[in-house]
Amino acid sequence: MHVLGAGIVGLACADELVTRGHDVAVVDPAPGSGASAVAAGMLSPGGEAWYGEPDVHRLGVASARLWPAYAARLGVPLHDRGTLVVGHDAADRHDVERQAAVLATLGVDVDVLTSVQVRRLEPALGRVAGGLALRDRAVDPRAAVAALLRRLGERVRARPPLAGADAVVVATGSRLPAPWTTLVRGVRGEVVRLRTDDPPRHVVRGWVGGEPVYVVPRPSGEVVVGATVEEHDAEPVPTAGGVLRLLRAARVLLPSLDRAELLACEARDRPATADHLPLVGPTGDPGTFLAAGHFRHGVLLAPLTARLLADAVEGADPDPAVDPRRLDLGGPQCT
Ligand code: GLY
Repeated sequence: MHVLGAGIVGLACADELVTRGHDVAVVDPAPGSGASAVAAGMLSPGGEAWYGEPDVHRLGVASARLWPAYAARLGVPLHDRGTLVVGHDAADRHDVERQAAVLATLGVDVDVLTSVQVRRLEPALGRVAGGLALRDRAVDPRAAVAALLRRLGERVRARPPLAGADAVVVATGSRLPAPWTTLVRGVRGEVVRLRTDDPPRHVVRGWVGGEPVYVVPRPSGEVVVGATVEEHDAEPVPTAGGVLRLLRAARVLLPSLDRAELLACEARDRPATADHLPLVGPTGDPGTFLAAGHFRHGVLLAPLTARLLADAVEGADPDPAVDPRRLDLGGPQCT
């Protein structure tokens, strides 16, 4: 079996298939260099919840539950001190209240905390008008990808093996081959990496003057500040305006970041489908499967995707919410 694409989703699928006894080769000329290399790694079904996306939340919650055991299997640490969703001013507090309202529609009740309550939880915060405390975790996607690459070893290669494959899993993120090219579009996200002696204890996400931003601490003292969201059709490059907006917002939320060392500014495309749900399962073309289009949720959904994809390869019916055949796939269809 060939898995095309060695981002976190392709590697997780390959690892699961190997664990179940399949003979797998992963093909990617630059493993781990796509969206996984830049993702902040928030395992955040609550922070990412949105109106009209109950299945994204359902799947996110299911996969978030898998992450502690998955991280242990990979030997990577999880950030487990929780996530604060904060608003800087009174208008930003409305965004916080709206996030609580979105969560309430999903059956998750979260209290909106006062400024004093939030700053007691995270003394590094500057002025905030209120916030939510969520249990959402985070992981370093680069560490997870490195661990998966170690587990898969020589199964990961730049070119396909000469011997053909009985099945193919296409896991190439936002760049799908024909006939699926238009099913997934790139939505650029820029991040800034900083190093600080004074990182926040929590993952901090929120709004500053209407600008969304998140700050994700790593055990090393690095913090990842993200992320802009831009529909575009060019190569994803970090822009002066995007970096400026991120740094300005992050510094307002966490003033001590003013002294942080600037390590890198990076950009990648998030792979977005029309309904913001991934494509995981059969294409209708016998022996060809998709594991792509995870939009903002590739890291969060990787362990669940791996299970669903391996189940589909072994003949199980896919979860209808992620079944690629819910969309018009084009090309030959044999269902
Ligand atoms: N998952 C966060 C983002 O896509 O920016």
